[in-house]
Amino acid sequence: MRIYTLVENTAKSQPFGSAHGLSFYIEANGRKLLFDMGPDGLFLENAGKLGVHPEEADLAVLSHGHNDHGGGLPLFLEINRKAKVYARKEAFEKHYSGAGKQYRDISLPEGMDTDRFIFTDMVQKIGENLTVFSNVTDQRLVPDSNRVLMKVRGDSMCRDDFRHEQSLIIEENGKLVLIAGCAHRGILNIQERAEQITGRPVDAVVSGFHLCIPRTGEPVAESFICELAGLLKKTKAVYYTCHCTGLAAYEVLKREMGDRIAYLAAGSVLEL
Ligand SMILES: [Fe+2]
Ligand SMILES: [Fe+2]
Repeated sequence: MRIYTLVENTAKSQPFGSAHGLSFYIEANGRKLLFDMGPDGLFLENAGKLGVHPEEADLAVLSHGHNDHGGGLPLFLEINRKAKVYARKEAFEKHYSGAGKQYRDISLPEGMDTDRFIFTDMVQKIGENLTVFSNVTDQRLVPDSNRVLMKVRGDSMCRDDFRHEQSLIIEENGKLVLIAGCAHRGILNIQERAEQITGRPVDAVVSGFHLCIPRTGEPVAESFICELAGLLKKTKAVYYTCHCTGLAAYEVLKREMGDRIAYLAAGSVLEL
């Protein structure tokens, strides 16, 4: 399996561009898939520099309804005329970030061709050795940085419950890889659900861990990060993180987890 990081908050080197957001281009089992599209057209620019072609992707998966992951979706639908996009129906509801009366709209772009979308179930096989799931209910170490994320209920705002979030399990050559977006529901809970669904331990996890408030970069408490690192180390997986983990939190994770964790910047190519 090969995972190209097309969009991430940092870039590996020149000439790759960076932006707050996430997009991975994945080759596995002879198929090509796009997991998230970042905030804009950067996924396509960096793909060109890496020599891969989202235009030819067989399918796409949208992790959740935030525009740093799906802002590039209209462009993807334009350049790729065949791939279906697997998303939660709730991803297309309105989402906001902020506090008090200062809210920023972080919803997906409107007016897209809904014929191209497949709205996924709680657990759904979307291809050979590909499963998406969203039925994550445990509340272990859910990051406090979610507190600024809202959705609309009736006429008012309420805390987002992340029903719009889904993650992907890929199996190739007997290896299980879990791919998630921001892991708003907590990476431990998502991994645990993936292991319940497959009945096996996950070998590798690729995901943002949402350990900072993206706009300010403020990390969650160091004690929280250390507790998370301690539990992640007890699993059998190797972790590749990025994006909303934040660099400050990543440094703590790296100190605590050593070679069990690595960072993926735009332009990285990961072989698993
Ligand atoms: Fe998010
Ligand atoms: Fe994000």
